[in-house]
Amino acid sequence: MSEPLVLGIETSCDETGVGIVRGTTLLVDEVASSVSEHARFGGVVPEVASRAHLEAMIPTIERACQKAGVKLNDIDALAVTSGPGLAGALLVGVASAKALAVGLGKPIYGVNHLAAHVCVDQLEHGYLDQPSIALLVSGGHSSLLLVPDVTGEITPLGQTIDDAAGEAFDKVARVLGLPFPGGPFIDAAAKEGDKTAIDFPRGLTAPKDLLKHRFDFSFSGLKTAVARWVELETKNGNEVIVNNVAASFQEAVVDVLLRKAIDACLSNDVNTLVIGGGVAANSRLRQVATERCADNKITLRIPRPGLCTDNGAMVAALGSELVRQGRTASPIDFGTNSSMDIRTVIEK
Ligand code: KG4
Ligand code: ZN
Repeated sequence: MSEPLVLGIETSCDETGVGIVRGTTLLVDEVASSVSEHARFGGVVPEVASRAHLEAMIPTIERACQKAGVKLNDIDALAVTSGPGLAGALLVGVASAKALAVGLGKPIYGVNHLAAHVCVDQLEHGYLDQPSIALLVSGGHSSLLLVPDVTGEITPLGQTIDDAAGEAFDKVARVLGLPFPGGPFIDAAAKEGDKTAIDFPRGLTAPKDLLKHRFDFSFSGLKTAVARWVELETKNGNEVIVNNVAASFQEAVVDVLLRKAIDACLSNDVNTLVIGGGVAANSRLRQVATERCADNKITLRIPRPGLCTDNGAMVAALGSELVRQGRTASPIDFGTNSSMDIRTVIEK
């Protein structure tokens, strides 16, 4: 029997994503982003995102099916992000996926967006090692997770106590006059800068902080330190070299994320680190992760950048894994959950 064909829908933020996978083979990953509509506000506007999802949903599904050469009737199961995310945006995806499930008479899985960010790597590097440590870094979340089984058992080891890593990139970009979302622009600017130019603070890495927050992150102090530094230099009439600030800031984020991720692997005796979420697209994070994992004999798995940022393929990947593991589908009356906990992988 051939592997199941699963269609995944993602609408938790500003990307309308529709992905289709067969088993762990990616057939198509269609994304319609409303990011340009939010840029002038410096952040995602929930109502604008919901409306954009509504407009993009049917054309994106049609494009995905056409490109994959798949008819809706061929789909064996549907998966959709039910949380966490923006309530109105999630509703559009969940309502659309449910309509398809009912119309086609197929099972539907309401899944956790964060678990999907971890599971997407299966499309590139095969089944996840059990257990793995996952470093999840996106615009809304930064966590370290112990993942014995991505379909049912995820234990949070630590998370950000203030800003998420991506949020810090976006806020610092704003301070530096770079466009939204800031991550890719800081990444590009940093390539031309000196990462040792400014010694920015590494949050929650002092011995006294480690006692209580060994695997937690804090980026709010770093963001403030960058803003103060820029303010002071400007006041003193010095030229602010944006590339140097970007590179030094990025180095501080990358250093802390990886120090803690490697510590989580070593202290839990886990040999595989998987990194997911939008910030995992960062070129310096990928480079330093490769070096430090090699030094510590840890297998590193990071999907290609296009699969790190929000997309439908990651949701389809998790749906497909749930089918493979024989997990029961969600009841059709499951709701959206904007603050869905990582310990809940699927709506029951
Ligand atoms: O996972 P994602 O697409 O959406 C959320 O679930 O939040 O992550 C978006 C975040 C944004 O904050 C964006 O600035 C950041 O990922 N990001 C990056 C890069 N590409 C996207 N951050 C650093 N470097 C990048 N290359
Ligand atoms: Zn995400």
